[in-house]
Amino acid sequence: MSGTIWNFAGKTALVSGGATGIGEAIVRKLAAAGALVVFSDLNEAAGGVLERELRERGAHIRFVVSDATDESQVEALVANALSVGGALDMAINNVGGIAKRAGDHGRIRLHETSLEAWRATVDLNLTSCFLGMKHQIPVMVAAGGGAIVNLTSLAGMRYSDGASPAYAAAKAGVIHLTRYAAVMHATDRVRVNVVAPGLTATKAMLANMPDDETRRMRAARLPMKRMIDPAEIADACLWACSEAATGVTGLTIPVDGGTAAL
Ligand SMILES: NC(=O)c1ccc[n+]([C@@H]2O[C@H](COP(=O)([O-])OP(=O)(O)OC[C@H]3O[C@@H](n4cnc5c(N)ncnc54)[C@H](O)[C@@H]3O)[C@@H](O)[C@H]2O)c1
Repeated sequence: MSGTIWNFAGKTALVSGGATGIGEAIVRKLAAAGALVVFSDLNEAAGGVLERELRERGAHIRFVVSDATDESQVEALVANALSVGGALDMAINNVGGIAKRAGDHGRIRLHETSLEAWRATVDLNLTSCFLGMKHQIPVMVAAGGGAIVNLTSLAGMRYSDGASPAYAAAKAGVIHLTRYAAVMHATDRVRVNVVAPGLTATKAMLANMPDDETRRMRAARLPMKRMIDPAEIADACLWACSEAATGVTGLTIPVDGGTAAL
């Protein structure tokens, strides 16, 4: 496991939703940096494949099937990470998205949003973040410190085409909940920051834009004329957890190629 600027040897990290997409990029970077990584997902097949691949390459890794919206499962996941690593130094609450199966979608208008769709998207993004921090913070406080990174979206900072009202509101909530946690636990040496990806070229995102022309048009609207690579989001998360960021808490870090500056 080499080729990284980061060194997290001896640290234990927990990543939610780590089997695919941005979460997978975070898991890969943390493993390459020498951390013991416990990651969760609902996608048992993808999580198992990633766990096997990284373990064969010498990583300290454990995959756990766990629902980030279910408190008892979140509590058990934190206990699991503690039992494997003996400590919890870092936690990345990455689970999120638009709850399409509950009827939410990127073009939906507020008055068309069912209560079921609203609740499912708020649960997936905001409640998952709340539950993660609720169970991670006491462990970190007891150990004398730690670092948490939550994932929001540009849609939580400003109007964003293609984000549902529930997703935008939930992601705004993630930013403010992060600030509350950061200030409340500043003297506990638990730092809490939030990373806000712009349009990021995960496999799932690219699958929504199957033809090259659609991808080119979406990229052309962005200041850098390209989408963000998941590894670039992961680097921001690792920076926020690192010794290079010990004075940083409550910060929202856009990794968006300049879109937030428009
Ligand atoms: N991709 C982007 O362009 C983009 C932009 C802005 C913000 N984000 C945010 O970044 C984060 C990661 O996004 P992504 O694009 O990689 O998402 P993704 O949908 O590609 O991956 C999310 C992962 O979480 C897992 N998951 C879903 N529900 C879960 C649950 N209840 N419990 C545990 N695991 C669950 C999925 O199986 C999947 O592996 C999300 O919070 C998302 O809102 C992404």
